[in-house]
Amino acid sequence: MSTRTITVTVNGTPYERAAEPRLILADFLRGTLGLTGTHVGCEHGVCGACTVLVDGDSMRSCLLFAVQLDGCSIETVESLGTLNNLSPLQEAFREHHALQCGFCTPGMLMTATDLLRKYPLATDEEIREGLSGNLCRCTGYEHIVAAVRAAKDAR
Ligand code: FES
Ligand code: FES
Repeated sequence: MSTRTITVTVNGTPYERAAEPRLILADFLRGTLGLTGTHVGCEHGVCGACTVLVDGDSMRSCLLFAVQLDGCSIETVESLGTLNNLSPLQEAFREHHALQCGFCTPGMLMTATDLLRKYPLATDEEIREGLSGNLCRCTGYEHIVAAVRAAKDAR
């Protein structure tokens, strides 16, 4: 199959790469760029595990073709922090035991990053509504909401 060359900025680094038109963004990030922090669960837009930020808005990377992102800026979970240097939001997740198996965590973190940047999150209800598109199969929702609340309050 023919490929197209696309230019994207991912976590502040510009990349020019060839992509088949059918390649989804999640596979481009994981397979082409080696950024495996973005997880792929349902592959049809339901679970939110694959959430990344595209030009500042949270999106499902399993529902986008990489070629659609030509010229865009993408943020993945790798942009937040490292094992030895967690971001305040990641630190709040650790403090509040907001992950069990961790599969949903990259998507939760990126959705929460979007929420924390854009919304007042005055109530836990707002946080719940904001995270309602992300599923946690370990059902650790109370802890996740508590972690986002703590990150918000620490700002
Ligand atoms: S893998 Fe994209 S929403 Fe589930
Ligand atoms: S921590 Fe296991 S799916 Fe959320």
